[in-house]
Amino acid sequence: MRTRADGTTEIGVGLISVGWMGQLHSRAYANLKYAYPDLGLAPRLVHAADPAPARTDEAVRVLGYERASADYHDVLNDPDVDVVSICAPNFLHSEIGIAAARAGKHFWIEKPVGRGEHETRAVADAAKEAGVVTSIGFNYRHAPAIEYLRELVAEGRLGRITNVRGQMFADYSADPRGALSWRFVRGLAGNGVLGDLMGHLVDLVQYTLGPIGEVSAVTSTVYAERPELPMGTGTHFALIENGDMKPVENEDYAGMLVRVADGAPAAHAVGTLEASRVSVGPRASYGIEVYGTGGSAHWDFERMNELHLSGGLGAENQGYTRVMARPGMGDFNRFQPGAGTSMGYDDLKVIEAKKFLQAVLGREAINSNIQDALSAAQVVSAAERSAETRTWQSSTPVEGTTAAGA
Ligand SMILES: NC(=O)c1ccc[n+]([C@@H]2O[C@H](COP(=O)([O-])OP(=O)(O)OC[C@H]3O[C@@H](n4cnc5c(N)ncnc54)[C@H](O)[C@@H]3O)[C@@H](O)[C@H]2O)c1
Repeated sequence: MRTRADGTTEIGVGLISVGWMGQLHSRAYANLKYAYPDLGLAPRLVHAADPAPARTDEAVRVLGYERASADYHDVLNDPDVDVVSICAPNFLHSEIGIAAARAGKHFWIEKPVGRGEHETRAVADAAKEAGVVTSIGFNYRHAPAIEYLRELVAEGRLGRITNVRGQMFADYSADPRGALSWRFVRGLAGNGVLGDLMGHLVDLVQYTLGPIGEVSAVTSTVYAERPELPMGTGTHFALIENGDMKPVENEDYAGMLVRVADGAPAAHAVGTLEASRVSVGPRASYGIEVYGTGGSAHWDFERMNELHLSGGLGAENQGYTRVMARPGMGDFNRFQPGAGTSMGYDDLKVIEAKKFLQAVLGREAINSNIQDALSAAQVVSAAERSAETRTWQSSTPVEGTTAAGA
């Protein structure tokens, strides 16, 4: 890192894996100067790695990296790289996360961190030992309406929180011709929709209400096999005609009953959380509904810029008001000047990049970190044990998270 003549702080960025998320992280760094010109952050896209030649080519030609390699170690060994975005498939997260920590690189890593709690914990231990700053791809928590919901709960404006209902319903694999990407192979992904989508929902609940202490879960696999998609080609949205069919090794659907832990702002609130990658109808219906003795609020990513708020018992007209995200909620004003003009998904990653780099510079306290990933992984792991044993399972709150009340 160095201070440029114009006073901005140049931060050398490395990227590992140039798939969907790798491209998105890169756009997020590039857009920081427009959204946060006052922060003086000057990310320099230095070195990207991906074994697929078309992806390294794209990294240099389209995304603007100075150099690219097939081997991620070249990124970690590059002295011009200060921070690394780890956007690899799940099976590489622990190996790369640990290597990044040992190389002394701060890292922003995609969720879920690894193929389960044990791998997330190994990355957390390595990051702690190396003293590097971490950030997790829990992008939905940055939606201005969610930041506002967190405030409403913390200030008691919904009363005592009694229950929560959440869903992560996606249709990316609703079609049986939907590709068997690495996400469906246990050795490459770990669990299925539990890690892919439920982890996001667990993070949203923990961020707004507090840590989840207990779960009871069911899981199911709707399609037993799918046509194979070679690694490094296409996306998991691809449809393949007459492909080579391979078995689906993890769950398409997961449902959980949850109880919020003692000591949290919403202690003892109960609820239901569901995730599916085969929903027909909802496209990316990711959301939570929070109910309290004084009011309730609904948010859905498909309508990211809206929060449905009840007026509460005392209101002349009970029921819901559709409140549009506006300046004053989260970082909305960094993207749009007034309510009604919408922010998009990419903007959430710009906010995430800002929080990460501000944390690296010691300036931001509420940046999701590896302890948040470990906490979500613990809950997901408890859900897996519960589904297997048909029993309730507990998850011990993790120290050092950014959960509500922590
Ligand atoms: N935060 C979110 O909302 C969100 C959304 C999508 C994906 N993700 C997560 O991001 C991660 C990546 O997902 P994606 O959809 O971008 O995957 P993708 O399949 O689009 O891209 C994966 C890339 O990894 C590369 N790769 C394979 N082996 C590699 C190796 N040995 N070294 C370096 N690169 C290698 C592939 O060539 C490919 O370019 C996953 O962990 C996923 O769960 C998060």
